Amino acid sequence: MKPWLRKIFSPAKRSIPLREIRRCFDEAAGDEEHFPATIDPRIYHVQLILHYFGDLSGKRILDAGCGKGRFARVLKERYPAAQIAALDLSEAMLRFVPASISACSGTMTSLPFASASFDCVYATESLEHAVDISAAVAEMCRILKPGGKLVIIDKNAGHWGRLKTPEWEKWFRREELENLLKKDCREVASRFISYWEDVEPDGLFLAWLAQK
Ligand SMILES: C[S@@+](CC[C@H](N)C(=O)[O-])C[C@H]1O[C@@H](n2cnc3c(N)ncnc32)[C@H](O)[C@@H]1O
Repeated sequence: MKPWLRKIFSPAKRSIPLREIRRCFDEAAGDEEHFPATIDPRIYHVQLILHYFGDLSGKRILDAGCGKGRFARVLKERYPAAQIAALDLSEAMLRFVPASISACSGTMTSLPFASASFDCVYATESLEHAVDISAAVAEMCRILKPGGKLVIIDKNAGHWGRLKTPEWEKWFRREELENLLKKDCREVASRFISYWEDVEPDGLFLAWLAQK
């Protein structure tokens, strides 16, 4: 078939309903190998969040798209006096979140929290599933207090195809998220990261750091 004919006849990219994404993650919650409830705190993704946020005692923090709450678990162990909320679309994932963390069911594109009510927000490999990316970024910025900090860890669009991905998943160029963050945050930066601090990043993972 000629390329222009293929263009006409190929179906438009389907818009995936949220309930379908939720159902997939509810099922995935049973797969502890790929969706673990714990994380080695030495992994750089955790270290970066801890280092960028600093002392979290008495601070209010949101893990947006928390899955089973593996990052929130480390933060709470490190800072028992922090008030940590963990939000996810999948209630099956949320069942693994420890009771000391306030688990909340919802979508990161419409966060059920007051504006300027959190000191720190982070999203690790969850924004890539949010579909309406600009709404999710705007929501995370909205609930941050002025001076509050945000970390997003996700995958680099330049490496798209390297892993198997569901239909709705999206990876990002550095400047794409930087530009969205700059709408609400005064300091925005991004960098390539790897799982271990002493291993040169291979370009798959990016971290965006922003301060409102
Ligand atoms: C790859 S997992 C990452 C989980 C967790 N952040 C971690 O690193 O362990 C992606 C998570 O995003 C959640 N998710 C997908 N779409 C979402 C949305 N619109 N709002 C909130 N969470 C969402 C999924 O249910 C899933 O738990």
